Amino acid sequence: MAIRPVLIAPDPRLKTVSTPVEKVDGEVRKLIDDMLESMYAADGIGLAAVQVGVPKRIIVMDLAQKEGKNEPRVFVNPVITWASEELVTFEEGCLSVPEIWDEVERPAHIRAEYLDRDGKKQVLKADGLLATCLQHEMDHLEGVLFIDHLSRLKRSMALKKLAKAKKLKETA
Ligand code: NI
Repeated sequence: MAIRPVLIAPDPRLKTVSTPVEKVDGEVRKLIDDMLESMYAADGIGLAAVQVGVPKRIIVMDLAQKEGKNEPRVFVNPVITWASEELVTFEEGCLSVPEIWDEVERPAHIRAEYLDRDGKKQVLKADGLLATCLQHEMDHLEGVLFIDHLSRLKRSMALKKLAKAKKLKETA
């Protein structure tokens, strides 16, 4: 396994639309393992492959690690098959948008289909943090960041903050 660097917005590669995985083979599983290691190293709860520069429809997630447990989840070629009209607001953050958190409204309940790390088809009913996190990560597969859901003013403030942080890092 290897830790891969996470791309930071406004890196244009984050705008790439990811392509489906044709076969969940050893190479894909190696990428999944690297993604999990990179996510844990960055103290994140979710990561899409495009965030480490591989535009494939793969997501890893672990919502339990904040409680000191490891419950890795893997979603290959995920599709949302149903989303509730009821919406819910969560404060979101993103490893590609460091130090910025803001509220995003999304469907509260979803159903999804995906392949697991063995390439087996799975169905999932989700709500709460899992539903929000999966929708956030699936946005990455379309080249969309959570700040794209904010008002223009809030988004430009977030981008300015990112640019300033990048400049500080470069001069440090
Ligand atoms: Ni993200």
